[in-house]
Amino acid sequence: MKVGIVGAGMVGSAAGYAIALTGGASEIVLVDYKPALAVAQAEDIAHAVPFAHPCRVLAGDYDDLAGATVVVLAAGVPQKPGESRLSLLSRNAEVFSEVVARVIKAAPDALLLVASNPVDIMTEVALRASGLPPERVIGSGTILDTARFRTLLGAHLGIAAGSVHAYVLGEHGDSEVLVWSSARVGTETVARFGAQLGAAITDEVRDRIDAGVRQAAYRIIEGKGATWYGIGAGLARIVQAVRNDQSSVLSCSIVTPEVEGVQDVALSLPRVVGSKGVIGTLAPDLSPDEAAGLRRSAEVLKETSARLF
Ligand code: LAC
Repeated sequence: MKVGIVGAGMVGSAAGYAIALTGGASEIVLVDYKPALAVAQAEDIAHAVPFAHPCRVLAGDYDDLAGATVVVLAAGVPQKPGESRLSLLSRNAEVFSEVVARVIKAAPDALLLVASNPVDIMTEVALRASGLPPERVIGSGTILDTARFRTLLGAHLGIAAGSVHAYVLGEHGDSEVLVWSSARVGTETVARFGAQLGAAITDEVRDRIDAGVRQAAYRIIEGKGATWYGIGAGLARIVQAVRNDQSSVLSCSIVTPEVEGVQDVALSLPRVVGSKGVIGTLAPDLSPDEAAGLRRSAEVLKETSARLF
């Protein structure tokens, strides 16, 4: 399977590296407005391939995206320290419309996988610019936030993150909703599991984990200027679900007809992802507070999107 990546900066190259190492593609083509960067990133990633799975990693221009099954859109500017994702909107929306038009011309049958922030709004920008159906324009959304939630819950409970089933839904951003009410380990809610293990989920623990998830990117950006490994792996996970037609349940973002009363908004819900893109969406079972939080998240995104369109 051929994967294109537009934007060979930290996120795009980390995605290429993760896709190559996880066997997500037989060919990866990196495109960037700085061709020398794409060439260098491609060569560097190609040197990792012998340690993993066979994969041709090349740099090229938009025409070289022809035949790609998935094109990752990682072009745009990253957050500055303390800057919210939504504040990137005007800078990245302009870049995106031009990029998407050129991608669709070269690879009209590709699924678009949006990574650039604010990713939910950029997913809507990409959908509008592409003319594709919503299920084929997927934003990474809260796939990374969900991973952060599971990591912190697993650390508290002493359980592998992969055995914690918990979701973050809504905006990939400040209004995101950690769905505690349905978070489980095996058959037990995390509350019951924690009580049984002597690792109670107290209010203090919940607040610490909430901040740990919600503020993660800000903390990491303060320390190293940007995030890239977590999102790179999240993008690779979505590519894997497409490549292997897995029907995996992943929290990712597509333009959704109605969420808690808000119409046509791109945000993350539990989605079933396979070779044709998002092939299903699960209606989450939420507590009243969580439902109100999801509605608020949808409203924030709708208000932001309305400023653009
Ligand atoms: C983060 C970026 C990808 O949350 O928004 O790390």
